[in-house]
This record gives sequence, C-alpha cells and structure tokens, in this order.
Amino acid sequence: MSPTVLITGASRGIGLAATEFILADGAKIIALQRTVTPALEALSAKYPGAVQIVKGDFTNAKDVSSAIALADSLDAVVLNAAVNLPYGTIATIPLDGYRGIFEVNLFAVVQFLQLALPKLRKAKGKVVLISSAAGEVGVKGIGAYGASKAALNQLNRTLAVEEPEITTISFHPGPVKTDMADTMQREGKDQMDPTVADALTASLIEADIPGRGIRNLVLRAGADYTGKYLHYDDPLVTSL
Ligand SMILES: NC(=O)c1ccc[n+]([C@@H]2O[C@H](COP(=O)([O-])OP(=O)(O)OC[C@H]3O[C@@H](n4cnc5c(N)ncnc54)[C@H](OP(=O)(O)O)[C@@H]3O)[C@@H](O)[C@H]2O)c1
Repeated sequence: MSPTVLITGASRGIGLAATEFILADGAKIIALQRTVTPALEALSAKYPGAVQIVKGDFTNAKDVSSAIALADSLDAVVLNAAVNLPYGTIATIPLDGYRGIFEVNLFAVVQFLQLALPKLRKAKGKVVLISSAAGEVGVKGIGAYGASKAALNQLNRTLAVEEPEITTISFHPGPVKTDMADTMQREGKDQMDPTVADALTASLIEADIPGRGIRNLVLRAGADYTGKYLHYDDPLVTSL
C-alpha cells in the first residue's frame, strides 16, 4: 500500500518541491498550510486521489488535528513550515518577534508531535524536521531564527531517544531560492552583515535539490538514521 506523508508548508518553496517528489514516488500526501496556491492545486490535479489539502495554520491545534485525522496510517511527517521574520540583533529585536518565530518554528512542532505521536508509533513512522545551518553558527541579525532551528535539532535528538519506534531526522535544505530567501535579501540585509547576506544570495540553489533530499529521507532512509542532523549535500542523503 502507498505510504501516507503529512507535510506542512506545501504551498510554495521547499515544501512544494518535496511534495512533488514524494507524489512522483507513489506516496499519498496530506498538505497543511494557510494558503492553497495554484501550484499546489496543480499537483493535486496531476495526482488524482493522492493529495488531501488542509487549509490551516500549523500553530492551531484544531487545524493540525484535522490534518492528522485524515491519515488512516501516518507513515511519515515532514515538518517544513517555518518563518524567519523579524530580523534583528539581540539588542534590537522586540521580544514578541523572538516569541513569534519560536511559536511557529518550535512550539508548533512540539504541539504537532504531541498530537501525532500515537499514530506515528502505530505506523512505526518517520519524522523529518526541516532545520537550517543558521542553527549551527552565529549570524548577525538572524539569531532568533537560528536559535529556533538549534532548538529544533535538540528536539530531534530528544525524540530519537524517547521514541525508539519512530525514525526522526533533522535536515538542512541548503540556501534555497524561495520566498524566505527573498525576504532575507529584502528585509534582513539591514540587520545582517550585508556581505553575508549577499554571499548567501549568490549561493542559492533550486528547491528541487532539497526537495529530492526530503523525498529520499522520508521514503527511503532506514531506522539507523534516527537522531541524525543531515545537510542536503551529505552522501547519506543524496545516495539514497
Ligand atoms: N530558503 C532557504 O534558504 C532555507 C534555508 C535553510 C532552511 N530553510 C527551511 O526550509 C523550510 C522551508 O522554507 P522555504 O524557504 O520553502 O520557505 P517559504 O518559501 O517561506 O515557505 C514557507 C512555507 O511554510 C508555510 N507556513 C509558514 N507559516 C505557516 C503556518 N503558521 N501554518 C502553516 N503553514 C505555514 C507557508 O505556507 P502558507 O504561507 O501558505 O501558510 C509556506 O508553504 C523552513 O523550515 C525553513 O526554515 C530554508
């Protein structure tokens, strides 16, 4: 039987690309995001009966529960939805901005897992958390986003030891040409070291590269991957 994969943030960017690769491999998708874009609708039309779209907010427990309820067997989840605004240094960022980033990038992930764990345990399922290298190094102006991703990586390590029946992996998709990267160039550059922002923009890759990597991890990685934090270009990802 085709596995069912629940993905958050499939309306655009990396989530949309991953959804396309997962569908092409014959899996079914439940997609949760606030916007139903023409691109997501087109994928749903291309794979009739394989896509269930839930228009909802990842931070809202009711919306998350509705999406989880659609799965007979929850074989895998890709927790991709995230935000990177506002930018700012520790000295300048409003505390509510820090909280807003953690609300989506960390607390919504914990809430999702609490709601999904019974089904994930039953399916001996897989969790792929979309992280970022911004959680590994200090980068001026994007510290709140980076801290949320560093915490996400720790959540991954904790989940691996607490839930041995589940395979959990944290994944850095690379610097990717998406709306999030545009926002960094447009709104983050003033808060960042502009040379760092320009270097990141110059190194952007297409979303199909991490999209393929996410498909590999979600559908092909073994239980021995649990607890790992992997970059998009790691042979452990690309060779699957
Ligand atoms: N792009 C990069 O260079 C880069 C680098 C490292 C890591 N990442 C990570 O990769 C992942 C995807 O990033 P991206 O670049 O594809 O970002 P993006 O283009 O901004 O897309 C973000 C996705 O998340 C969804 N989303 C955001 N808030 C949501 C909420 N409250 N509820 C439901 N869905 C929500 C958006 O859908 P709606 O707006 O329709 O809800 C959208 O589908 C993120 O975890 C990001 O941190 C990206």
